[in-house]
Amino acid sequence: MEGPVTHVADAAPYRALLHPPGARWIDVIDQRALPHARVDVRIDNVADAARAIREMWVRGAPLIGAVGAYGLAMALDDDPNDAALARAFSTLDATRPTAVNLRWALARVRDRVAPLHDALRAAAAWDEADRIAAEDVAINYAIGRHGLPLLRAIAARKHGGAVNVLTHCNTGALATCGFGTATAPIFLAHAQGIAVHVLVSETRPRLQGANLTTWEMRERGIAHTLVADSAAATLMRGGDVDIVLVGADRVTRNGDVCNKIGTYPKALAARDNDIAFYVALPSPTLDATLASGDDVPIEMRSDDELLWIGGRDEHGDIRRVRIAPEGTRANNPAFDVTPARLVSGLITEAGIVEASEAALRAAFAGHFRRGAAIG
Ligand code: MRU
Repeated sequence: MEGPVTHVADAAPYRALLHPPGARWIDVIDQRALPHARVDVRIDNVADAARAIREMWVRGAPLIGAVGAYGLAMALDDDPNDAALARAFSTLDATRPTAVNLRWALARVRDRVAPLHDALRAAAAWDEADRIAAEDVAINYAIGRHGLPLLRAIAARKHGGAVNVLTHCNTGALATCGFGTATAPIFLAHAQGIAVHVLVSETRPRLQGANLTTWEMRERGIAHTLVADSAAATLMRGGDVDIVLVGADRVTRNGDVCNKIGTYPKALAARDNDIAFYVALPSPTLDATLASGDDVPIEMRSDDELLWIGGRDEHGDIRRVRIAPEGTRANNPAFDVTPARLVSGLITEAGIVEASEAALRAAFAGHFRRGAAIG
């Protein structure tokens, strides 16, 4: 993002990632324990940073990017030479394939340190990772500012009645370094006294909606209701949804949107019911090297994520139970692609942009110029 980095205060009592100034580690919330327990974990080496991304202690495209950048800095603390840099880059890059923010952040740190003498590399990498994190906070705020008028217009139309926003997955402060992408207009609207009611789609199989988005809404005192993923279309048909706001893991040159599995059916239902379907993304999520969503590598995750489910039992104990018979096979793609034609608009730090190559090229010329540099 061009222009100065601005720091934005957010009252929420939690941050997904903290890097105390001068520290050679980061503290993150282990999101696997939420909502039943708040567990903070310290990461001070590249192996743990990679594990945290792969095993989803941390998740969400912008946050994965930031943790990847800090992981590279940690690797350079251990060994700053070219071979070590390349090894650490590949280790982190191989953790998860779909969210382009990871490779974008790794390439940015690598390009910053590659021309430097070994002795200067680690400090420069930590500084670049801090910049990536600070820019993400400012981008979250800009996305919120540009998305807010959408909610304000609905509130006015409803004469102050609650704006019913349907979300999918978790795109909040837990998925970023700030206060989120698709949640940013919601958080700002709430902060400005606009009545919002969030319909939180549970987001099987890992339940980012049921476990994380509900937790964030509760922490912030925002009205919300949990809904089954499969109920979303019926809620839209029944007039219970005013607008759909989702995030993205990769947006391609033509405006196709890759996001959490289950996003595409929501876009189809929104179109069928004439409901606005907006996608919020920071510009690092734009991948100008890919022509369309068909080119995006879709992560396939383990069958167990579908065959087992975790939660707290009536005694307060955390349990994991099998939901399908022994021997059942599963298919578990983690993301899907929503064609640009179903997207009402892309909410970015540069404003609301049409989901098309011409509009994206106009808004993010630098990305198209640098396209080949990602990776
Ligand atoms: O598998 P996850 O939890 O990393 O998937 C996250 C999503 O799909 C989010 O919608 C996306 O990364 C945007 S987060 C601001």
